[in-house]
Amino acid sequence: MKKHLRSFFYALSPQGRRLFRRFVYFPLDTYLKLRGKNYYNGIELPLPGEIFTGGGDFLKNGLIFKKYFIKLGKLSKNNDVLDVGSGLGRMAIPLTDFINENNRYEGFDVVKTAVIDCQHRISSKFPNFSFHHASLENDLYTSSGKSAQGYSFPFEKNTFDFAWATSVFTHMDPDGVMNYLNEARRVIRPGGRFLATFFLMDHESKKCSLNSKYPFRYKINDTWYMSKKTKGANVAFDSQIILNWAKDAGWKNTSIYFGRWSGRPEETTDFQDIIVFH
Ligand SMILES: C[S@@+](CC[C@H](N)C(=O)[O-])C[C@H]1O[C@@H](n2cnc3c(N)ncnc32)[C@H](O)[C@@H]1O
Repeated sequence: MKKHLRSFFYALSPQGRRLFRRFVYFPLDTYLKLRGKNYYNGIELPLPGEIFTGGGDFLKNGLIFKKYFIKLGKLSKNNDVLDVGSGLGRMAIPLTDFINENNRYEGFDVVKTAVIDCQHRISSKFPNFSFHHASLENDLYTSSGKSAQGYSFPFEKNTFDFAWATSVFTHMDPDGVMNYLNEARRVIRPGGRFLATFFLMDHESKKCSLNSKYPFRYKINDTWYMSKKTKGANVAFDSQIILNWAKDAGWKNTSIYFGRWSGRPEETTDFQDIIVFH
């Protein structure tokens, strides 16, 4: 049943998927609206039916990543930061009471409605938080746009101290990810850090993942996909290839924190694998 529902879901257009979600969650959203919406730092949180950016508790996950940013990415209050694939502001909202008001937060995303939504909910209250639309194609999220392979982040060289891409490279094709590692290196100042999450294929995850609840069944060249039809549904990369691209992009060091998605037996940090490039 779950498999059929997933196939049906991925057969819809990106807009169709968002509408389908609104429809399924309509009763819960109506109840929550009547009960009174939830807020963090004065910002209204999106309703379950509006959240097209992944499962789990929206606020709780944002707060968990705030801790990773500080602990693993050495984020500090006086950093200028970039959010690659800012979605509905899951990472931005918990940082509104952390980043100094004279430092910059910049986020960009391919879903225009999400960018507008963040501008209304977040930038209207925190003007140092800005959100931008990038008109790029992604078969999970958009129906048209240019390829991410040739996209230049709309910022000058050496603009940021810290950047992140949470659950974004897990939905992008290899050429786009390679370009984004280069672009992140360009816009981050020397000494800055870039934290990104991945599904990394190495010896251990290959062994575990096929029997896990999170199998990547389709391999094309060195990239693994969960859905043959909608490639952006979930994408896994060979860990050594990512490290090679990072080196070519000019990142000198990488720290890997494995996640539990594949069911690997060793100690894990989050669900997805995390790499901090510095
Ligand atoms: C799973 S959601 C995660 C959103 C957000 N990073 C978070 O952690 O809540 C993936 C996001 O990546 C965005 N995205 C997909 N391809 C992108 C690209 N090439 N450039 C920027 N954002 C992209 C999607 O629109 C979506 O908002």
